Amino acid sequence: MYHDPEIYALEQERIFKGKAWNILCLEAEIPNPGDFQICHVGDTPVVVNRDEDGKVYAFVNRCAHRGAEIVREPRGNGTDHTCIYHAWCYSRKGELTGVPFRRGANGKGGMPASFEPKQHNLQTLKVESFKGCLFGSFDHDIEPLEEYLGPLMVDHVGGLLDKPIKILGYQRQRIKANWKLYPENIKDAYHGSLLHEFNRTFGLSRLTQVAGGYMDEKHRHSILFQFSGSDSDEVALRAYREAGVQRGELMKLNDYDMVRIIPENDKGMSTRVINLFPNGFFHQIANTLAMRKLRTLGVDEFELTWTLFGYEDDTPEMTEHRLNQANMVGPAGLISMEDGEALELVHRTTKTAQNEYAVIEMGGVGPIGDRDTRVNEVTVRGFWAYYSQLMGIAPEGAEQ
Ligand SMILES: [Fe+2]
Repeated sequence: MYHDPEIYALEQERIFKGKAWNILCLEAEIPNPGDFQICHVGDTPVVVNRDEDGKVYAFVNRCAHRGAEIVREPRGNGTDHTCIYHAWCYSRKGELTGVPFRRGANGKGGMPASFEPKQHNLQTLKVESFKGCLFGSFDHDIEPLEEYLGPLMVDHVGGLLDKPIKILGYQRQRIKANWKLYPENIKDAYHGSLLHEFNRTFGLSRLTQVAGGYMDEKHRHSILFQFSGSDSDEVALRAYREAGVQRGELMKLNDYDMVRIIPENDKGMSTRVINLFPNGFFHQIANTLAMRKLRTLGVDEFELTWTLFGYEDDTPEMTEHRLNQANMVGPAGLISMEDGEALELVHRTTKTAQNEYAVIEMGGVGPIGDRDTRVNEVTVRGFWAYYSQLMGIAPEGAEQ
């Protein structure tokens, strides 16, 4: 599942270009008419931009003439988009508006009289916004976005986007592993305090805390959450010792400011990590907030963009606090840095074991459902169950 190029090609068609809403960007990134940003849906380059009417449009970033990438800047502002190759020009809606020397020069050459620019507009995506997060789909008949997200995601993602946000910055990384290992990692509550040394050393995230892994009814999206302070150091130390995980005494940070939680939402969860199938992610880790999006780069690599944000009404101190806490996340984040490494380890070694199976049974086998524990991988099975439905493939012996 991680290495077959035919499966990868099918995923592009049935998932990214199929019945799925993909995160494009945040509205706060393109607030004014003419603002644009480039992004990717699977491996297809896309331009998302705001027109004079205030509406957002998205289209494939590939010239109708010879297929060159049209917009090359990551973001900017413009009245239209011109391809550098032969200067074909497109509107913000992706309509072909200009073909230089269409009628030739000095009465010679040019396009045939039958050439109709309207037939060469760029392929558009259906675009919808959920509380300022812009999603796109190649399937113009897809269910409405809020229905796709479902009540659980509407509640949590909606909560994070409940007031005007302020973009704080970006982090970007490439991981040499199959893209599916990333939603798996995000849905895997089990590894958080085992893989991540920072969490382990200072006892920040632990499997003894009140926590859970919940899904939407189709099991395609997920949220992992935990409440810090819901267990005692003594209970945690005993549990980790009994589990045979090396953990003597917890070390103490001299300055707790970077992990300090300033209460700001009614959920009271110290961490929430959300996956919106197929390419979107949100996190709240203490007070650091981000939207993450994934771009596929072949079977062996993917790119992850982290868009860190706060709120427009944050005090300068709160902004400073969120930026300080951003040290926990991203490619070199004190908590996130090991994920890329773990995924590359899996990807590398499964290359030579292509007929083997992984064991994903933490949290129990049988029907897929929510669990009130982080010793749990049922959410990972949820991903595969929905993936299997969309792809029309299932392992031997799977229940249909
Ligand atoms: Fe992790």
